[in-house]
Amino acid sequence: MSQPPLWPAHLHHFCLRTAQLEPQTEWYSKQLEMDAEKLAEGSVWLKSSQRNLILSSIDGSNDDRIERERLRFAAYALDTLEQVPYFDAWLKQRGVERSEKKSPIFANDQISIEDPDGNTFIFGVPNKKETKTPDRLPGRLQHIGICTPDIDRLKDFYIDVIGFRLSDVVSNDKGTISACFLRSDHEHHDLALFKASSSRFDHQCYETTCWNDIRDWGDHFSKTKTRVEWGAARHGAGNNLFIFVRDLDGNPVEMSAELETRRYDDKPGIWKTEERTLNLWGSAWSRD
Ligand SMILES: [Fe+2]
Repeated sequence: MSQPPLWPAHLHHFCLRTAQLEPQTEWYSKQLEMDAEKLAEGSVWLKSSQRNLILSSIDGSNDDRIERERLRFAAYALDTLEQVPYFDAWLKQRGVERSEKKSPIFANDQISIEDPDGNTFIFGVPNKKETKTPDRLPGRLQHIGICTPDIDRLKDFYIDVIGFRLSDVVSNDKGTISACFLRSDHEHHDLALFKASSSRFDHQCYETTCWNDIRDWGDHFSKTKTRVEWGAARHGAGNNLFIFVRDLDGNPVEMSAELETRRYDDKPGIWKTEERTLNLWGSAWSRD
């Protein structure tokens, strides 16, 4: 089967808004061992050899607005610069809404689109060299999750219009979808969608090299007095081992290992909406 111009791509960075820029910068610097670099427009680039995240300020007076606008954008790196015009033409043909937002750490030649929920996704190639020094604790930014009140619409958009592939779908006996896991390369998912009452950012995930890395992150979080709030456990869909902590804004941060891989043509798996699907070992977080 011929592959769409999105392929292959991977999550390179994302931009989170926060009403507490300095404390959040300090949190990520310390907890995820990332270096902070101020960017021209007042936001902060947190970086390590495998992790890139941009924090930008939002006025802290309206909690609903902050929740809705938490994710400023997600940025996926295409494999080559040559994919950009090809993908651009593909999106034009499909009438995809464009966004004005740009990533300061992608080359100028980047594509910025708005999904049906108003989330901005950017596709391009990095314009600045990432940190060379190897991370003390391995953990490569690998996926984000977003919540949506209309998961069917968003799922169809990312698969049929953008070009993601469906790895696993989670639904009840009536066929109502509660979650789905999408990929733009060989890894099981680099975008997770969850059905919820509102459109909002859900979580970020860093993929480590093995189970022992999860142990080391757990020991690290213990030393920095950050509580592991979910796990250690193993997801059903994706089969990855994981622990979750939360940043100062309550955004879940997942450290993962052993995430499954898929071939381009593999058929999607179907899971039931039940705790086991999200945690084979015990209880699961539910989204409202
Ligand atoms: Fe995840």
